[in-house]
Amino acid sequence: MARDRVLSGMRPTGKLHLGNYLGALDNWVRLQESHDCFFFIANWHALTTDAENIREVAGNTIEMVADWLGAGLEPQRCTMFIQSLVPEHAELHLLFSMITPVGWLERVPTYKEMVEQLGIESPSYGLLGYPLLQAADILIYKPTWVPVGIDQVPHIELTREVARRFNHTFGEVFPEPQAKLTEIPKVPGTDGRKMSKSYGNAIYLSDSAETIRQKVRPMVTDPARKRRSDPGNPEVCPVFDLHKIFTPAGDREYCATGCRTAGIGCLDCKDVLLKHLEPALAPIRERRQGFAEKPDMIADILREGSARARRVAQATMDEVRRVVTLTP
Ligand code: TRP
Ligand code: SF4
Repeated sequence: MARDRVLSGMRPTGKLHLGNYLGALDNWVRLQESHDCFFFIANWHALTTDAENIREVAGNTIEMVADWLGAGLEPQRCTMFIQSLVPEHAELHLLFSMITPVGWLERVPTYKEMVEQLGIESPSYGLLGYPLLQAADILIYKPTWVPVGIDQVPHIELTREVARRFNHTFGEVFPEPQAKLTEIPKVPGTDGRKMSKSYGNAIYLSDSAETIRQKVRPMVTDPARKRRSDPGNPEVCPVFDLHKIFTPAGDREYCATGCRTAGIGCLDCKDVLLKHLEPALAPIRERRQGFAEKPDMIADILREGSARARRVAQATMDEVRRVVTLTP
């Protein structure tokens, strides 16, 4: 029996951190075992906000895919590709743009947030169209599932609306995909805020054991625990959020009790965390390092994946052109 198809993508922001791994990549690695998976680098989407950093996109793509491979994605088990190497996405985006009211795009919350938070005075046509390009990325593969975080749900909703409108206007081509919400554990950065590249508080999959140690040891803890003799509360401590992910129950209980009774110090507690965090990350780091040293091999994997993706995209575009009868 054919496996359900899954499609998802990431913008090429560069090396991935623990939050990216636990929020998406780890889930992708599991999905490749049970689903027909397509994962891609959304490099056109990178242009919507970072056009001035365009020189970094190629290098970021290699670093990011090194992390994908390090985490366990395998070219024999899933299709990894680059958006701009499948130009059919752009053709479908253009056709969608003809049937999509501007109001639908202006209402998308990520658009409004971008414009407000970055104080963009004159938003580009491409930024407004960001979720519509995403709709084309998705629908051209006719996936059943799109694994994304909760922030992307409005984009999947828009994708479904566009599919309905296209089918109604031209003819039944696109099944409606569904978001597959990734259950994301709380992953705090070293300063206690959400782990994020832009906050400078992230632990990267590429970080050496020594770097991880140097980041974890000064990490923010329960702010009420000022002295070693003060009892603490693990439930408000970002270090303990990481224990919840990486530390087995026995050691975790030891730390929680030691914290509440001031039986252990925060550095002891962090050492217990490191004892479990390091071996979880070491094999990923070693594998990703091996790939990062062979950028040509990564480029080959992406070229082959893109050729495979392109065949699927072209088959869909044949159907699309058959119902959008433009030529005699
Ligand atoms: N917008 C997504 C993000 O910022 C990236 C993306 C582009 C995407 N096209 C997609 C994700 C298609 C899933 C499916 O994370
Ligand atoms: Fe956090 Fe551990 Fe310190 Fe308690 S002992 S405050 S859980 S780091």
